[in-house]
Amino acid sequence: MSTLALRGGTVVDSKGERKADLVIDQASGRLIEADGVSADQELDASGCAVVPGFVDLHVHLRQPGNEAAETIESGSRSAALGGFTAIVSMPNTDPCTDSAAVVNDVMALAANALCEIKPSAAITLGRDGVALAPMGELAALGVRMFTDDGTGLQDDQLMRRALEYASSLVVDDGADIVLSQHCEASALSQGGVMHEGGWSSRLGLPGQPAEAEELMVMRDIALSRLTGGRVHLQHLSTAGSVEMVRQAKADGLPVTAEATPHHFSLTDAACAGYDPVFKVHPPLRTDVDVEAIRTGLRDGTIDAVATDHAPHTADAKELPFDQAPPGMIGLETAFALAYTHLGLSLMEIVRLLATNPARIAGLSDRHGGPIVPGRLANLAVVDLSEQWVVDGAATASLSSNSPFHGHSVTGRVRHTIFEGEPVVIDGKATR
Ligand code: DOR
Repeated sequence: MSTLALRGGTVVDSKGERKADLVIDQASGRLIEADGVSADQELDASGCAVVPGFVDLHVHLRQPGNEAAETIESGSRSAALGGFTAIVSMPNTDPCTDSAAVVNDVMALAANALCEIKPSAAITLGRDGVALAPMGELAALGVRMFTDDGTGLQDDQLMRRALEYASSLVVDDGADIVLSQHCEASALSQGGVMHEGGWSSRLGLPGQPAEAEELMVMRDIALSRLTGGRVHLQHLSTAGSVEMVRQAKADGLPVTAEATPHHFSLTDAACAGYDPVFKVHPPLRTDVDVEAIRTGLRDGTIDAVATDHAPHTADAKELPFDQAPPGMIGLETAFALAYTHLGLSLMEIVRLLATNPARIAGLSDRHGGPIVPGRLANLAVVDLSEQWVVDGAATASLSSNSPFHGHSVTGRVRHTIFEGEPVVIDGKATR
């Protein structure tokens, strides 16, 4: 039996915090009782915390279709470097992930990745918002999340039908089928390239009002109430959205939400130099919104931190601000930004980056902890004392559109273990 030991670390999971050595049986990839066991391979975790590997509900991998920006392999390597052991891939690929053929292709390409890749699929064919994708067939292949991300589903009646249909689907693992929404009422956001407010006026750029997001948050909460359907609200960015989700949860509705590191770290003032690296949908908002997102993450209104990792080639991001595509990469900086900016304990960060997103994605049997014998070893080892400066170009992603280049942060991923295999050792991917 080949074994791997993690020695000297402090285990932090949903059960609390304890000093413990961990031993993994590499044949099964599972944790075993560590007492007195010597191992074939040792990894030093002294001075570090050992936590459940992170789970990202929102990653654009660009394959099939735009392999110059990212591939499933390069994206999974970037995820592993960020401490993620599972990621949900978004369906705005080319062709769109709306058929069994594309879902099967993505799953085949994901088989050798450095983390688990759970494909989401489109709610509507081609993400066109007109006709439902074959959700039953795709759920039978393992899809648990559907989204037209990149755009919101505008048609109220079609969203109602999608929620009713998703609620009626029964899958073998008993997981919920979740409809995730990119909340953007396009009639109101149309033409806007940044947040509509003081900065967009000063810069002479057309804006998207906060209300473009909030109208769809309001509608989807109403449709969840009407249908009982399971709604997940993606990348919340406004104070008004947070308040509506808070009320929906108080009303007991089956609604969850995520927020991105860029929406809790940056404001629309970052767009002042017209640098397209700061262009993203939904756009960076105001100080008040950033503070509301932080509060929502702290008080449990927002369930998860998700990156919306959106790689774009340098050519694309060198276009003028109003023509460049929206999106920013984020897998390798998410943990440090959460630890640096949210003012939360590591245990609370684990809830936002591992336990809750694993539950929402239907992956709790193997991701998100607890760290106990018998469980698959999906782990991240993090050094909370390390302060470092983000180098946007130093990434395993094929794209380098990080808005955090030059930012000082605290907390770094040292090792990542995926199903018992050390895929990152001392900050370097092993393959
Ligand atoms: O900024 C964004 N970029 N927002 C999205 O919803 C889509 C994403 C992308 O695919 O580039």
